[in-house]
Amino acid sequence: MTHRIAVIPGDGIGPEVAKVGVRLLERIGLPLQFDWFDFGADRYLKDGTILPQDFLDTLRRDYDAVYFGAVGDPRVPGNEHAKGILLAMRFELDLYVNLRPCILIDDRLSPLKGKGRNELRFTVFRENTEGLYTGAGGVFKKGTADEVAQEIEINTRKGVSRICEAAFAFAERRGMARVCMADKANVLLFGHGLWRRVFAETAQRHPAIQAKAMYVDALAMDLIRQPEAYDVIVTNNLFGDILTDLGAALTGGLGVAASGNIHPGRISLFEPVHGSAPDIAGQGKANPLAMALTGALMLEHLGYTREAGLVQSAVEEQVREGARTPDLVPLLGGPASSTETVAAELLDRLTART
Ligand code: NAD
Ligand code: IPM
Ligand code: MN
Repeated sequence: MTHRIAVIPGDGIGPEVAKVGVRLLERIGLPLQFDWFDFGADRYLKDGTILPQDFLDTLRRDYDAVYFGAVGDPRVPGNEHAKGILLAMRFELDLYVNLRPCILIDDRLSPLKGKGRNELRFTVFRENTEGLYTGAGGVFKKGTADEVAQEIEINTRKGVSRICEAAFAFAERRGMARVCMADKANVLLFGHGLWRRVFAETAQRHPAIQAKAMYVDALAMDLIRQPEAYDVIVTNNLFGDILTDLGAALTGGLGVAASGNIHPGRISLFEPVHGSAPDIAGQGKANPLAMALTGALMLEHLGYTREAGLVQSAVEEQVREGARTPDLVPLLGGPASSTETVAAELLDRLTART
C-alpha cells in the first residue's frame, strides 16, 4: 500500500529544509508518494489563498500524513496565514498530541555541564487543540483608553483527559518510569484545577507509573538543574510551546528539534519545532537535521520503525562525524558548512544504511 504524504514547505527556510527531508525519505525506497502544496505567505500575498475550502477534506480522504516546513513571514505581520494554515490543521484535524522529544543525540550538543545523553532524554506531550490557542476572546473599545483585550483559556475534561492518557500510555509503551504534569494551578484555579484532578484520575489508571504534578515555573528551573528527573512531561498548549523551545536549547537547539502533531490512528502532521527563520532564509545556513528527524517521527507513525531508526542513526552519525551548519558550530566547533553540504553527506550516510 502506498502512503500519500502532503508536503507543505511554507515560508522562509521551510522550503530549504523540506526539499532535503523529502529527498532523504525518497532515498529509503519505501512506497511513499509526496504531493507538494504551495500554501504560505507567497501564495497568500499573490491571490489571497490561505487554505482552500476543501483542502482539509482532501487531506482526510486521500492522505496519511502532512510533512510541514514552517510558516511565518515579515510581510504578513498579523501572522493570519500561519493561523489559517498550521493552527487550522492542528484544530480541524484534531491533532491533539503535540509530541516533542527533547532527547540529546550527542553529548557535545548539551549546554549543561555534566549532563549528557543519559541525562537529557525527556519527551513533552503538549496539548494541541485548546488552551489559549483557540482564538476565543476579543477586543472591546479598541484603540481607546478604555480598551479591553481578552484571550480565554479553554480547558475541557475531554481535551485534558486524552492528552494525559496519551502521555501515560507512551511512558508505559517505552518502559519509562515517570510522568510529570506542568501547570499553574496555584493561580489558575479553575482551568488548571481541572488539569490537576484529571491528571490524578489518569495516574490512578496507571499505577506502575510515578506521577507528579508541578508548577510550570518550578519545572522550567528544574529542567536546567536536573533534567534527568524527567521522562515524560504533559502540559497545556502554551506551556508546552515554551517548554519545548527550552527543551530544544538543552538538546542542540532548534536546528535539531523535531515534532509530531498527532491524532493516533488518523492523518497526522509532522514539522520541525523551529519556524521560518527569516533572519537566515535564502542564505544556505538552515540546519536540515530537525526536518530529517521529523521525517523519522513520521516514518514511525506510518509503521516504518526500522526505517525511522536508519534516518535517526544517519543524523546521529552526521552530528558525530560530518559537516555542520553555523548554528551547531558553537557546540561542535569547526568550520561552518551549507545546508546543501550537510544534506549531501546525510544522504550518503542514509544510502550506506539502506
Ligand atoms: P524561528 O524558529 O524561526 O527562529 C529562531 C532562531 O533560531 C533564529 O535565529 C533562527 O535563525 C534560528 N533557527 C531556527 N531554525 C533553524 C534551523 N533549522 N537552522 C538554523 N537556525 C535556525 O523562530 P522566530 O524567529 O521566533 O519566528 C520566525 C517566524 O516563524 C515567525 O513568523 C513565527 O511565527 C514563525 N514560527 C513558525 C513555526 C511553525 O511553522 N511551526 C514555529 C515557530 C515560529
Ligand atoms: C510552534 C510555534 C507555533 C505555536 C506558532 C507558529 C503558531 O511556535 O509550533 O511551536 O505557537 O504553536
Ligand atoms: Mn513554538
